[in-house]
Amino acid sequence: MMAVRLVARIYGSATRALCFGGWRSLHTVYQMAELPETHQMLRQTCRNFAENELMPVAAQLDKEHKFPAEKVKKMGELGLLAMDVPEKYGGAGLDYLAYSIAMEEISRGCASTGVIMSVNNSLYLGPILKHGTEEQKQQWVTPFTSGQKIGCFALSEPGNGSDAGAASTTAQLRGDQWVLNGTKAWITNCWDASAVVVFATTDKSLKHKGISTFLVPLPTPGLSLGKKEDKLGIRASSTANLIFEDCQIPKENLLGQPGMGFRIAMQTLDSGRIGIASQALGIGQAALDCAVDYAEKRIAFGSPISKLQAIQFKLADMAVALESARLLTWRAAMLKDAGKPYTKEAAMAKLAASESATFISHQAIQILGGMGYVTDMPAERHYRDARITEIYEGTSEIQRLVIANQVLKEYQG
Ligand code: CAA
Repeated sequence: MMAVRLVARIYGSATRALCFGGWRSLHTVYQMAELPETHQMLRQTCRNFAENELMPVAAQLDKEHKFPAEKVKKMGELGLLAMDVPEKYGGAGLDYLAYSIAMEEISRGCASTGVIMSVNNSLYLGPILKHGTEEQKQQWVTPFTSGQKIGCFALSEPGNGSDAGAASTTAQLRGDQWVLNGTKAWITNCWDASAVVVFATTDKSLKHKGISTFLVPLPTPGLSLGKKEDKLGIRASSTANLIFEDCQIPKENLLGQPGMGFRIAMQTLDSGRIGIASQALGIGQAALDCAVDYAEKRIAFGSPISKLQAIQFKLADMAVALESARLLTWRAAMLKDAGKPYTKEAAMAKLAASESATFISHQAIQILGGMGYVTDMPAERHYRDARITEIYEGTSEIQRLVIANQVLKEYQG
């Protein structure tokens, strides 16, 4: 049903796109040349949605730190919150390339909305779809596909971020209940979520092999939310601690086998990194759009500054960084869709796209000068939003570790 609506929108908007004039359609044709037709249409649909629904409100949402509840519901209706979930569970039944393309477009409109979408798709629904039983999918996937409910993912803790295997939150089986104790940190979406995938250790002596995964409803007794973090960017998405104090959940809320939690987390992050890479592409594209628009309108030394080589060299470097990162991201998504290994490629995509987003938004501010430094223009928001993409779902340093490990393995044969 949802996919039907999405496909109907895709075809409808593709027809409308052909009627557009000006630079935007040329730009669109160029960028779409290498994508399948269905994905081109999806891209245009998401672009229209982002331009009509998200761009006009993104600055206000950022300023007020306001969760875009109404937009999230509309995205759910379009199928954007459960893109690769099979239709039988209420999803759009599309592939990861489609998800990457949609994530980029949504994030181009509003990076906060992008991360909300990414966490629900990759980090919450992803592991349940892969490891859940049929009953768990009915209970924890289907209600989270339509935008009425969203989920979140709790891996990091105040004492461990990059070292994800050092979880100190505990889960003990008492009769028919798991009892959770500890604090999870930096949980995107948690103030607005109705469920969370939680990683906790059942046996600390086993280190990462003692970690298991649990499905916890929100709210639930024994689980409280910390204060909303006052962040540099992506301010319309909520981020806070989750505090477990003798929080009891039914025995059947274990996801996968006991001790499989670290592997589930790593697999989930492999996919999640494609989502964050795509978010970074959207931010980078928005910053480049803003810089080009300004450079063509701003007159200095008697002509638009886009005529100056100093500006043109910047624009060229920005475009190359963006397009290279986009190709890496699409490649990682296509490998996942083909059922091939993609750990290295997802890490490469996230590293390249996040560092490009920071670089491009930095350069955009430089091109705008003083206007880049004030909130009248979106460049400063893109710069603030870009920065987190180098930190969450594994810092750039962690991506380099993952890539190097894989490269070394390849050489060892
Ligand atoms: N897929 C499947 N299994 C994997 C894997 C992968 N990608 N990576 C590692 N594993 C397995 C290994 O095969 C190994 O298995 P065995 O024990 O059976 O041999 C096991 O996991 C341990 O592997 P490592 O020795 O490589 O693990 P490590 O302790 O050295 O850690 C790490 C590796 C890459 C540093 C990892 O801890 C990591 O990715 N850290 C970053 C965590 C992260 O990204 N956190 C983000 C938080 S979520 C977030 O930001 C959400 C948000 O709200 C937006």
